[in-house]
This record gives sequence, structure tokens and C-alpha cells, in this order.
Amino acid sequence: MAQLWGGRFTKETDKLVYNFNASISFDQKFYRQDIRGSLAHVRMLAKQGILTEQERDQIIDGLNGILRDVENGTLSITDEYEDIHSFVEANLIDRIGDVGKKLHTGRSRNDQVALDMKLYVRDEIDELDPILKKLLLVIERIMEENTETYMPGFTHLQKAQPVTLAHHFGAYFEMFRRDRSRLADIRRRMNTCPLGAGALAGTTYPLDRAYTAQLLDFDEPTANSMDSVSDRDYIIELLSALSTIQMHLSRFSEEICIWNSNEYRFVEIDDAYSTGSSIMPQKKNPDIAELVRGKTGRVYGALMQMLTSMKGLPLAYNKDMQEDKELTFDAIDTVKGCVVLFTGMLDTMKFRKDIMEQSAKHGFTNATDVADYLVRKGIPFRDAHGITGRLVLDCLDRGCSLDDLPLEEFRRYSPVIDSDIYEAISMKTCVERRNTTGAPGPEAIRAEIERNRKYLSA
Ligand code: ARG
Repeated sequence: MAQLWGGRFTKETDKLVYNFNASISFDQKFYRQDIRGSLAHVRMLAKQGILTEQERDQIIDGLNGILRDVENGTLSITDEYEDIHSFVEANLIDRIGDVGKKLHTGRSRNDQVALDMKLYVRDEIDELDPILKKLLLVIERIMEENTETYMPGFTHLQKAQPVTLAHHFGAYFEMFRRDRSRLADIRRRMNTCPLGAGALAGTTYPLDRAYTAQLLDFDEPTANSMDSVSDRDYIIELLSALSTIQMHLSRFSEEICIWNSNEYRFVEIDDAYSTGSSIMPQKKNPDIAELVRGKTGRVYGALMQMLTSMKGLPLAYNKDMQEDKELTFDAIDTVKGCVVLFTGMLDTMKFRKDIMEQSAKHGFTNATDVADYLVRKGIPFRDAHGITGRLVLDCLDRGCSLDDLPLEEFRRYSPVIDSDIYEAISMKTCVERRNTTGAPGPEAIRAEIERNRKYLSA
């Protein structure tokens, strides 16, 4: 049991208490960030004349040595230390002797841990962004290849109007694009450096907080030392953004499960991204999509946990805040894994264009276009709606689609209908006529794809 604070105590910590209190099993995840923060701290201390240049260089060498040895596996982080901060400091003293004891001058673990967590979250946002961009590139490719892949668009999970696969995927492009911008917003807002806030009330040493902030690529130091050590808003914001990403992935996954079902058969998931059944030889299951959908619960859970852990905490630091780590780490790792796997699944998926188009035809998705045709021939829309409704009923009786109805049948419902009806209600025409901004028509989708391309190359 290696602790930084034995002086005031006359008795050993109870073993169970020690284990309950310790965080090394999970906060070792940010050993790099912890060392990075310490390197900046000692540079600042020397610049301010609080440490000599020689002391600074010895400490820097020692810290770099710890980093190197942990990375190459010669030094392992073990649970005989209370947390990662104790581990690094104890190792430093082992390596360079008494001068190592000067590292923690003008610093508390409260501002130290606040810094480490911020550095970690910022690094993870920087890793997640290109992963999301890769997903967008795959979506964009599929859009480009499928501007004429007709399929039913749905409302209430009922076939509604024909769209294209490009248009459907374009909706997801927007979602993940917003996700990236949400992460960028969070990064911008959180980018202030808490180091130098001390335990809660700053310190009596003449620290240059702006210098440390600059060394660590922050925009500026945090403004209030009590807020600095107890702000976890950015973690809540991150978990909310991660939950939204998972929500989007989960909706997409659900559609893929539906499209992959025997009833739809819109998509063929690559063998490398599906699994079989131990008993039913015919099965090819969309497990990746299902797992991504399922893991959404974990990420939402982390958000709820964090909001609840912070609720009612008085200023400033409280040990409750140590609970900010495990589920946040898990949520970040989960989302990164889900986005990567989902991207791979999408990238290798085949689309059954023929089946999609047939499905659009047989779901009366062109019924609105029949009504619009009648309107163009002079029938008021409300009457046109009624006539088309009766035509649909007739087709349902016959088990055919509107396109299959003979002309004489059409004309029994309205004499204004001519042979040009077939062209007017073909899937191609239905889609081609819809060219308002954001619609599936060829001009509109071209513009959307062009806009996406610009955004991706920016
Ligand atoms: N392991 C602690 C945490 O994660 C570090 C801060 C400890 N500070 C304290 N006053 N006990 O929050």
C-alpha cells in the first residue's frame, strides 16, 4: 500500500478501505496524460524559479524514463499504488531520489486529475473524429453509387413514397456529420487548463498558469479554481454526444436487421461480418448490427451514471468524482469499436437493387403520384385522393401494383387517365420529379452529394 499522505495518520488504512478507495486499476489508462501534465508542470516551475534548471532536467529525464519503461513493458503499473499519480511520483523518487519529491510543488491531485481527465477526453475526441469521418466516406461512396437505386421510403414502417438508396443514406450522412460537429463544439468549450488550481484555492507559489496551459495546447487556464477541480460538465457533454452517436448507429442497425430479414432481403451482409447458428444451418445472422444496437444501452447508462454521480455535489472536489472514469472510458471504447465495426459492415454490404425497386412498386409508393397526375389533368386534389384510394383498393383485391393495372381499369375510375399514366407513375419518374432542395430527385441528390464531398475534403 503506497500512499502519498501517511504523515497525519497513526494507523494503517484498513485493507478493504484501501481497495475501495484506490483507483489505479482504471486510472492507469491515462498514464501518458499524467506524465505529460507533470512534464509541463516542472517546466513551468523552473521558468518561475521555483525549481532550478538542473532539478527540472533531472525530473524530466526521470518522467520520460517512466514513460519509456511503461510503454516497452519493463515497468508495470501494479495495484500496490493508490492511483496513477502516486505510481508516477513514487517511481520518480525511486529513480532520481529526493529531487523527485519536488515534482508535486504547487499542485494537488485534485487539479492533477482534472487535467489528466481533460487531456484524455481531448485525445479521445481527436481519435474519434477521423473514425467518424471514415464512416461518412463510406456513406458518401454508397450514395454516389446509388442515385438511381429506387426503394420505398417509409413512415410508420409502412411504405410511403419512393426514394433512392442514395437519399436514404444521405439522412445518415447528416446525422454523423452533426455528431462530428457536436464533438468539435465540446472540444472547443472544454479546452481550458485546470492545472494550477491546486486543491481548490490556487496556491501561494508564483505559478504561471497561462504558460502551462500553452505547453499543453489549451486555449487558456480555467478561470475559477473551485470550478476547475470540480467541473465535469465536459464529460457529461461527451457522454451525451456519444449517446447520440450510438442512437444513430442503433437506428441504422435496426434498419439493416430489417433489410437483412428473409421478408425484405434488401441487403446481403458480407460473410466476414455475419455469424451462423449452432443448430440451424441455414442461418446467417446480422450479429454486428444487433450488438451495436445492444451496446447503445451501455453508453446511455454511462451518461445517466455521470449525471447522477454529480447531482448534489457541494463545491469543490469530492471523492464521488473519481466515479467519472470507468464508465466514461467504457463508453468511449464502446463507441469507437461500434463505429469501426459498423463502417466495415457497411463498406462490404451488397444491396439488392432489383428487390428494393420491386418492393417500392408493390407498396403503392406511387399512389401520391397517381393523385398528382389526376390533378395535372384538372381534377381537384381532394377528389384525386379519393379516386386513387379506390384504385389502390382495387389493386389490393387483384394482388397487383398500380403500374400493373390495365388502362381500361384505370379509366373506369376516371376518364382523364391516358396511357401516359404508366410513365407518370414509374419509380423513375416519381423520384425524378422530386427535386426540391434535400429531395431524392437527381438534381437535388447531386447537389447534396456535391455538398458532402466539399465538406469531406475540407
Ligand atoms: N483518484 C482521485 C480521483 O480520481 C484523484 C484525486 C484524489 N484527490 C483527493 N482529494 N483524494 O478523483
